[in-house]
Amino acid sequence: MSTIPLTQPQSLTARKKVTTRVFQLKKQRQEPITMLTAYDYPTAMALDKAGIDAILVGDSMGMVVLGYKNTLPVTMEEMIHHCKAVARGAEFALLIGDMPFLSYQVSTAEAVRNAGRFLQEAGMDAVKLEGGRERIEAIRAIVSAGIPVMGHLGLTPQSIHLLGGFRAQGRDAETARLILEDALSLESAGCFSIVLESMPRRLADLISRRLSVPTIGIGAGSGCDGQVLVTHDLLGLFDRFTPSFVKQYAQLYEEMDRAFRSYIEEVKTHQFPTEEHSIDMSDEEWEALNREKNYG
Ligand code: KIV
Repeated sequence: MSTIPLTQPQSLTARKKVTTRVFQLKKQRQEPITMLTAYDYPTAMALDKAGIDAILVGDSMGMVVLGYKNTLPVTMEEMIHHCKAVARGAEFALLIGDMPFLSYQVSTAEAVRNAGRFLQEAGMDAVKLEGGRERIEAIRAIVSAGIPVMGHLGLTPQSIHLLGGFRAQGRDAETARLILEDALSLESAGCFSIVLESMPRRLADLISRRLSVPTIGIGAGSGCDGQVLVTHDLLGLFDRFTPSFVKQYAQLYEEMDRAFRSYIEEVKTHQFPTEEHSIDMSDEEWEALNREKNYG
């Protein structure tokens, strides 16, 4: 008699889809939450396989993939297009779509409609939007439509002209207090998590201790409940500038340059393609082709 069970018991360690509830549990257990950006299928697949908790399809895509000077020109259509590719590549990570400039600022109704598109059309699990107290109404409406919202405070790149450039925020007591108050307002409006970008470590640490929802830091020190970076910065794939808070784990731009130069050289010098990279045809078929007319 066979001893093989008809159904395989589910492994206790089987990987499960990360949800907003997992974010909350991780904060309670003080387990750091990992998040990175992706804008395409292969990167999403690689991040998911590596075990990342969350993938943000950030509007940073406008700068690192589309070559815009800042994130302001990014449209809803561009975001939806890239979110769809990411959703095809990731199975387990929590997927967060970044709402682009003017997709949630004009009216609450537009904010809800656009947030809904990220879930309905693009396969995202949640959305992220920038801003503090001025976004409370939009956040409440999106959350009450059943859509999880991640907030974003500190350096908010969609307000770069108001902030006077890509610069750290909350470095004096007055602006620090405003950011802390904004964080508390976002939490009470229903945000499941808040990104804290480019602010003093002490301030991010204080906010993280005061909130019951997890904070995800970028340039905000180690006191946050999780960390995020722009993947192109981490991989050394963005050549224009690298923020001082980024740690580069690879220099892929240099590697890409080396590979492209080798290819160009090998084609020019007839080193590529070789036999190994060519498709064969049998002598029999070759002779049949030449039988009627000698093409050879
Ligand atoms: O657009 C983005 O990638 C972001 C992260 C920097 C948090 O908002």
